[in-house]
Amino acid sequence: MISGRTRIFGVISDPVEHVMAPAINNAAFRKLGLDFLQVPFRVKKEELGKAIEGMRALNIRGINVTIPHKVAVIPFLDELDPLARRIGAVNTIANDGGVLTGYNTDAPGFLQALLGKGIEPKGGNVVILGAGGASRAVSFILAERGSNVVILNRTLERAKELADGVLGALRKEITALKLDRENLARALREAHILVNTTSVGMSPNINETPVSADLLKSDLVVFDIVINPIKTRLLREAEAAGAQTIKGLDMLVWQGVTAFEIWTGLKAPFELMKEEVIKALEVASLRSQ
Ligand code: ATR
Repeated sequence: MISGRTRIFGVISDPVEHVMAPAINNAAFRKLGLDFLQVPFRVKKEELGKAIEGMRALNIRGINVTIPHKVAVIPFLDELDPLARRIGAVNTIANDGGVLTGYNTDAPGFLQALLGKGIEPKGGNVVILGAGGASRAVSFILAERGSNVVILNRTLERAKELADGVLGALRKEITALKLDRENLARALREAHILVNTTSVGMSPNINETPVSADLLKSDLVVFDIVINPIKTRLLREAEAAGAQTIKGLDMLVWQGVTAFEIWTGLKAPFELMKEEVIKALEVASLRSQ
């Protein structure tokens, strides 16, 4: 029951209809008996500053931040967690007595998803496809963990910019290459882990794949961060090649778990949150058909 004691959380996005955070977090709040409630807010780009001031004024306890606000929100915050500062993107804000701190839980969420499957990327060769916002979080956390990272992107310039950003922040060299068959074949020969952060294979283009099946091999771990469909063509073909696969939904669950724990200081109900993510993805998939 909502009362004067209920603590309010939000998620800001534009559009906002597709966000899954309220379904997942409210289920977790209920499970732990917390008098908390999360609601969606559609916030236009030009009103982001006002929305964050509103969070302060209304004493909203926490906010999930998603597209298109993850980078633009930074100037409006009081503090940044060191990882969010290095990555240059925030997806979770906590309000502690009027002090707003920005965190990035996409990056630790990605790492937890790997570690949760018993895979330690430290010292391994990792091939990352894509150089957008998602690749930024993934590249930083892997470079920080001590992986040897190669980024391949359709637009080489973006891959180089990202590699330079990692070098500047972490003093770690990253190889940037154009995403073509020859470079991909060469990089995959030495690779232990392949991560797709591009939108190739995402609904409605579910018959596309960023890597042709003949380049996949059984001693590879293939992680596709695409969440709709839950099992992409890349993951299906990787499975057929005998590779170990990790789904984008695992990263989504772990990033949500990390945000929940920052807000509540309590251990998040992982299995319940995972079930809620799967339910929300099934609904999203039915809607997009
Ligand atoms: P996000 O924040 O989700 O990472 P983004 O910043 O738009 O989204 O990045 C999308 C990524 O998918 C980019 O690396 C993009 O490549 P470009 O930098 O060349 O645009 C990649 N991408 C999208 N469509 C692609 C396609 N058809 N083939 C190859 N790469 C593609």
